[in-house]
Amino acid sequence: MKEIKKIACIGAGYVGGPTMSVIAQKNPGIQVTVVDLNQQRIDAWNDEDLSQLPIYEPGLDGVVGEARGRNLFFSTDVETAIDEADMIFISVNTPTKTYGKGKGQAADLKYIELCARQIARVAQGDKIIVEKSTLPVRTAAALKSILDDTGNGVNFAILSNPEFLAEGTAVADLHHPDRVLIGGEDEEAIQALVQIYAAWVPHERILTTNLWSSELSKLVANAFLAQRVSSINAISELCEVTGANVDEVSRAIGHDSRIGPKFLKASVGFGGSCFQKDILNLVYIARSYNLTAVADYWEQVIILNDHQKSRFAERIIQTMYNTVNGKKIVFLGWAFKKDTNDTRESAAIYVADHLLDEEAHLVVYDPKVSADQIYKDLDYLKTRSAEENRRLVTVVNDPYEALQEAHAATILTEWDEFKGYDWALIKKQMKKPSFVFDGRKLLDSASLRKLGFDYYAIGE
Ligand code: NAD
Ligand code: UDX
Repeated sequence: MKEIKKIACIGAGYVGGPTMSVIAQKNPGIQVTVVDLNQQRIDAWNDEDLSQLPIYEPGLDGVVGEARGRNLFFSTDVETAIDEADMIFISVNTPTKTYGKGKGQAADLKYIELCARQIARVAQGDKIIVEKSTLPVRTAAALKSILDDTGNGVNFAILSNPEFLAEGTAVADLHHPDRVLIGGEDEEAIQALVQIYAAWVPHERILTTNLWSSELSKLVANAFLAQRVSSINAISELCEVTGANVDEVSRAIGHDSRIGPKFLKASVGFGGSCFQKDILNLVYIARSYNLTAVADYWEQVIILNDHQKSRFAERIIQTMYNTVNGKKIVFLGWAFKKDTNDTRESAAIYVADHLLDEEAHLVVYDPKVSADQIYKDLDYLKTRSAEENRRLVTVVNDPYEALQEAHAATILTEWDEFKGYDWALIKKQMKKPSFVFDGRKLLDSASLRKLGFDYYAIGE
């Protein structure tokens, strides 16, 4: 069997960074080099102060601290890493296309293709190429064609090895994966990758399939997870008008072992860089094969999610006497979920946009997201000018300061610290009536109401 001595990973983002750190931690005999074009990102991965890593993930500092400099390296020298590696992971971003055919739905594969062309140009010896990025089904065929047609007579084996980690729990997910999925045709290459994971993952959790099943399974896994969230969010609206409580409904149905308890937490809407992008991609693929019923079915998961975000904003406006103009509304949380600094597609962005249309004055506090990122997210929407976003939105580092004289507090991210706040003190400092809109059903409704808050939660 082919022995892997050196690994390169192209893309030092939320997936490449943590995944390669754990592979290096568990395989001290293999040299792992993670490369990226983004110098600032690489500098942050190399920062001596482990609290400055470019992404916030509980436990990641320990893993990087153990392996970095031993057999884990971060660099911008992409060509050397490609040249030296026996196995190359491609872990670059595959965002939704913003132009041309498939705009707003298809995955943009330009970064993937650039990687393939660069590998083809640089490689002098045989290599195993591993798709770590989430890709449309049959991308491996395109990769193979690029590599074989422009290569230097070098043999490339292509594997699909999608990543299932969730942000906020990435290290735990990588250490104890439910499964590792490897798709491919070349048995020797498959076994080389199996060996790397077998350093810490039990064999029965390493699944091998053909290439297309592996590529498609990643999109399908995310679609099923997101579908559960949209399903319970649809029910949350019904709960609000009938007197049922969505947490109780979740508990009741989740006890059915055929349904199970996970991914049944109603929310202001799912966010993150994956769910929406991957479902849109699935919808696009189905449409491209003229499978209209299939495409419409999955598209509804996104439609419901958009509805959930806007109906939360609408509920705030209606409850506050149909006007939020000039009112101070505090956003607790901006990240798309707790324990991450990632804000991509966060529901908070869209709820904020809706309230800003009504000229609310927003004050945002998130324990891990910078002011710079928050303004970037709003500017990216192009709904209003950068100056106007800065005039209407204030970002603070102290939640108590934020809540002084506020008309309403809204919970957008389920950070644990929000539960521990001194809500009695906050009640004294807010304007009366004091509204709380809990988009995560995080706080204890009975005690907030007892303190005198006008408390509204999703699904209640
Ligand atoms: P990311 O944007 O955080 O990181 C991608 C990195 O690739 C960036 O730093 C970028 O500079 C770099 N890059 C792009 N083109 C490059 C090139 N030609 N050479 C060198 N570097 C290049 O993205 P991410 O969140 O890590 O996602 C990467 C892939 O993994 C995507 O396909 C995504 O769908 C998939 N995925 C993401 C998650 C997640 O939780 N974020 C989970 C599973 C799968
Ligand atoms: C997801 C998949 O879980 C992971 O397997 C894949 O590799 C990448 O995409 P991620 O987006 O990081 O991971 O986080 P996840 O925990 O799935 O949450 C996604 C969104 O759904 C978040 O906004 C979260 O708040 C929301 N969510 C999740 C709910 O609203 N309710 C739930 O019950 C679960």
